Amino acid sequence: MSPAANRKRSLWGTRFGFYLAAIGSAFGLGNLWRFPYVTVENGGGAFVLLYTLFAMLIGLPLLVGELMLGKLTRRSAIGATRKLAYDRTIAEGARASPVSGRRWPVHGWVWVGRAAVFASLLVLSYYAVISGWVLHFLMQFALSPLSDQGFDPDRALRVIRENGFLQLALTSVHLLISIIVVVKGVQEGIEKWVGNLMPVFVLLLVILVTKSLSLPTAGEAMRFLFYPDFSKLTAFSMLNALGHVFFTLSIGFGTMITFGSYLNERTHIPSAGFRVTAMDTLISLFAGLMIFPLVVGASFKVSGPDVLFQSLPRLLQTSQSGFFFGIAFFLCLYLAALGASIGLLESIVSNWTDDDLSSRRIGTWISGFGAFLLAVFPALSTSIFAGITWGGRGILEVLDAILINAILPIIALALTVAVSFRLRKELKRAEFVNDDSMTTIKLFSHWIVVTGYIAPAVILFALALALWGLVRG
Ligand code: PHE
Repeated sequence: MSPAANRKRSLWGTRFGFYLAAIGSAFGLGNLWRFPYVTVENGGGAFVLLYTLFAMLIGLPLLVGELMLGKLTRRSAIGATRKLAYDRTIAEGARASPVSGRRWPVHGWVWVGRAAVFASLLVLSYYAVISGWVLHFLMQFALSPLSDQGFDPDRALRVIRENGFLQLALTSVHLLISIIVVVKGVQEGIEKWVGNLMPVFVLLLVILVTKSLSLPTAGEAMRFLFYPDFSKLTAFSMLNALGHVFFTLSIGFGTMITFGSYLNERTHIPSAGFRVTAMDTLISLFAGLMIFPLVVGASFKVSGPDVLFQSLPRLLQTSQSGFFFGIAFFLCLYLAALGASIGLLESIVSNWTDDDLSSRRIGTWISGFGAFLLAVFPALSTSIFAGITWGGRGILEVLDAILINAILPIIALALTVAVSFRLRKELKRAEFVNDDSMTTIKLFSHWIVVTGYIAPAVILFALALALWGLVRG
């Protein structure tokens, strides 16, 4: 047994600590920055309906699967998938490996874990860029009393878009802060940082939603968000909705495998998963209610990754206390982005420490630096590399689209197949079924069908539909 396996894994200090960190990781730019922008791109109500249904029917079962994989293996993505390949106590049909060798085809599972970690690194790179934008807006708000014109959202957006080096600088500040938190370790780091922010943010969001819903465009916004006009859906909408569900719930990155691996024995995973999914979905819908009254009535073109940054400051400007709300909102948003980034970085780093490849400190610095190198391209995508576009989309948007709408669903598919057909059923049952309560017994059999058959079929269908859309042009 390796020294890593012998060493006791540090677990969450409290059950609440896990919720806070898991919600902290799920809740982030996906809810406030990405949800409004993909909703605009996909035509509103019908997409929102698809997203909500998929979150509950596909996202939640897969989230439970990943948490369970982590908890049962006590490893992060790569170590967990390695156990699925080679550890007979955990996996059905595992094959003992020659001491350090590989046995194909079972060794393929380890590559699923590796792919998840690589996806995390790529996402972290442009997530850090957008977190830098949030920092920029926060500073602009804070400094606005010093300037004659006050806060000018259009100028703030122009400055950050046109200034690639400012983006790079802010990206590195963000990555540095994330590195420092992750170097400090699981309990002191994540729990404390992410934990205290959620209630404040929810309160702020509620206040801003109320403000936004008092605008004359509120009715139109509600219609846009909740009236399902199915004619707006395209061959890509289903995959876009699934991809966004995976992104916003942090599924397919190995993050929830890592978080599950820190869970203490008594946590009932399905209930924990339900709470995280419900909370995350509600927050996205709230973000929609806050932003869309500004978007539907806008005289300017609102689209792409700018949606949040174009619309929210306008809401803040309508209010006397806009300065205060602006600072509070962007500060909370920044902390939410930080919570998610910490989750991403932690789930990359823990693969290094699992296998004793390096110390936590060195692993974190190397991973953070890797993310920084990759971030150069999206960070310069609106300035130096602005000329590089595909169908009118810049590097950041293309990276986001390919990663979230194609690569992520494929990894999530592979992971759910792994959990369904490799992880021993009696172990899963023991985690799922609570004191033989009838409800959990019933839910367990539903969960088995969804993760093993329905979710894979839906993902494959969505991929095929999108492919068909591509071919047809
Ligand atoms: N779920 C986060 C969000 O919505 C993004 C994220 C993905 C965080 C994967 C961690 C891991 O912003």
